[in-house]
Amino acid sequence: MPQKIRKAVFPAAGLGTRLLPATKAMPKEMLTLVDKPLIQYVVEEAAASGVESILIVTGRGKAAMEDHFDVSFELEQLLRERGKENLLKVARGVSEIARISYTRQREALGLGHAIYQGRDFVEDEPFAVMLADDIVDAERPALRQMIDVYEKYDAPVLGTMRVEGEAISRFGVIDAEEVEPGVYKIRDMVEKPKFEDAPSDLAIIGRYILTPDIFDEIERTKPGAGGEIQITDAMRKLLQKRPFYAMRLEGTRHDAGDKLGFLVATVEFALKRPDLAPQFAKYLRNLKLN
Ligand code: UTP
Repeated sequence: MPQKIRKAVFPAAGLGTRLLPATKAMPKEMLTLVDKPLIQYVVEEAAASGVESILIVTGRGKAAMEDHFDVSFELEQLLRERGKENLLKVARGVSEIARISYTRQREALGLGHAIYQGRDFVEDEPFAVMLADDIVDAERPALRQMIDVYEKYDAPVLGTMRVEGEAISRFGVIDAEEVEPGVYKIRDMVEKPKFEDAPSDLAIIGRYILTPDIFDEIERTKPGAGGEIQITDAMRKLLQKRPFYAMRLEGTRHDAGDKLGFLVATVEFALKRPDLAPQFAKYLRNLKLN
């Protein structure tokens, strides 16, 4: 029986330069889709998938995340005094979603290096890695879909999605054999290939299930593209030593760390909200677009 996935590492120490100036003094993970910060969507996905304990890897200027998931004593007191029971429930609920701890990545040396900061937290268990700027809107939570595959194959699983055309060059891409519909055994992977060199149209997105043997590989990984320690490089090395799987996630993935992706996600999520959708849809229909 594979060990249960109880822990998740959330690398959130990146500088978010694509969203400047918004991210100059505010973590991109705290940007909101409608009224909920990106990171809360993903913490909720983790909890709904059975994760009990989360480590958020932060950096300078990221304290708002810690405050967000903490109890807000003054706010709760005020809402209680004013009889705003529903809002009180909303505020209180945020601090009760999961057990969260924090550590710092002192320098933004890359995603692989950020994940490495989770070594002591993870100990010797398999674990999830979740990037809060990848929002997957799915009926069955994306991580839960991956845990199902992990439990069947007892091996690391990467979350992927089909990406058409030149856009594939922005991702890590897998070269793999389909072993059952939507599940792949990975032969190799490459970071940000040219379109013509991409081994498939399956792009790695911000969901990973990894095993603790990844840490030794990260330790041995030298800085690659952009002087950063790339998780793809470490995973490629581990791939030579153990089976590695990927799955095609069901659902829609939004890159909320990109301006256009963020706008699209905002519109989609607003249109799903019963309290906003009728009026918002009416507004959109009346826009005179040519
Ligand atoms: P991105 O490639 O999106 O980089 O990182 P970024 O710095 O956050 O954003 P841009 O590209 O400058 O706009 C992917 C994920 O890895 C984390 C980021 O927080 C993000 O969730 N990361 C990246 C770290 O935690 N540390 C790093 O050193 C690099």
